[in-house]
Amino acid sequence: MTAANTVRWPQPTAQTDFDVYKARAEFPILRRKVHDRPIVYLDNAATTQKPQAVIDAIVRYYTTENANVHRGVHALSEQATESYEQARVTVQRFLNAAEACEIVFVRGTTEGINLVAQAWGRTHVGRGDEIVISTMEHHSNIVPWQILCEQQGARLRVAPINDNGELLLDEFEKLLGPKTKLVSIVHVSNALGTVNPVRKIVEMAHRWNARVLVDGAQAIPHMAVDVRALDCDFYVFSGHKVYGPTGIGVLHSKAELLDAMPPYQGGGDMISSVTFEKTLYNRLPYKFEAGTPHVSGAIGLGAALAYLNAIGRDRIARHERQLLAYGTERLQEIPGLRLIGTAREKTGVLSFVVEGIHPHDIGTILDREGIAIRTGHHCAQPLMQRFGVPATARASLALYNTMEEMDALAAALHKVREVFA
Ligand SMILES: Cc1ncc(COP(=O)(O)O)c(C=O)c1O
Repeated sequence: MTAANTVRWPQPTAQTDFDVYKARAEFPILRRKVHDRPIVYLDNAATTQKPQAVIDAIVRYYTTENANVHRGVHALSEQATESYEQARVTVQRFLNAAEACEIVFVRGTTEGINLVAQAWGRTHVGRGDEIVISTMEHHSNIVPWQILCEQQGARLRVAPINDNGELLLDEFEKLLGPKTKLVSIVHVSNALGTVNPVRKIVEMAHRWNARVLVDGAQAIPHMAVDVRALDCDFYVFSGHKVYGPTGIGVLHSKAELLDAMPPYQGGGDMISSVTFEKTLYNRLPYKFEAGTPHVSGAIGLGAALAYLNAIGRDRIARHERQLLAYGTERLQEIPGLRLIGTAREKTGVLSFVVEGIHPHDIGTILDREGIAIRTGHHCAQPLMQRFGVPATARASLALYNTMEEMDALAAALHKVREVFA
């Protein structure tokens, strides 16, 4: 058995200009212990931990600025509005979007996809039309389209993947045609780590005048995303997976598309005038932000993105690539362990099963060692069926994870095997 503290890989500081230990110090929760052991947090695809800068931004907002936005003439409301709108500009720049009004704050990826399915889908998808997704989608990029297809009499088509968990592009292309109205594709799979060739997919879909939605929930934390370079029509992500707060997320779309869409929800803030006879809607993006928004969430998200910019997304990506390579190597040493998801283009997800041991048991034993991983179907049941497994164990990486934590994971997995021997 390999000792948890065995160093078999050049330390990150020797390899990159990224100081992971300095970064870790900025995440207060990483100082706590779980079951009397230092926490090894490897459930980052579910949600990430928050740096002090994000916590401070939220506390500062509630301590000094809290008021409702877009409504008051008083100083607090003006300051709250200014901070909320500044967060929108931070998101715009982070995505390289053309205008701030193309950034719609939503609750998260799930709400962003449902917004597009209902507001865009119900006006643009009709009987006999087709929507194309892939086998590796999260339930939140399957079910909203099933609901829409049922409402409109449209058909959902699913592009297959190979045994490594890569999209079969030729098969995908064969599904496209004059009936295709939308392609909705995950940028990075939460259950496999596969990075999809989104730019190519957009090109293929646009040849048929189909729109493309990209589910960026697992891409945004790990790579630079430029929505103009991708030329996608909709891009969605969640704040809590990118070191920001829960309850806030982003839908990006091109202004002309958003302009032509009816609102998703009705209420305050999304109108310019209301009479009992007729309501006129507000300009973008407010037409899609009915009711009091999650002001502190948006501010926290802005702080998270600023934090990532300050470190540098390329440095984070380099560090995570090394972690993934080392973690993969260590897990492959474990007898009976099968990695699920071995795409050539991958981010930091290590999904696996171990012969004769249920993933839930693996997760429970690892928890006693202070190691947090996710076990289950990862909201991707059709994908689990594709690989013939009911569930996997999944370790997912973030900027604050270390090579030593990969060693600790491997050592704990050897222990799991001993328990079940
Ligand atoms: C790829 C992907 N899409 C969508 C979602 C849904 O995100 P949320 O629950 O934040 O709306 C997740 C969450 O795990 C995800 O990983």
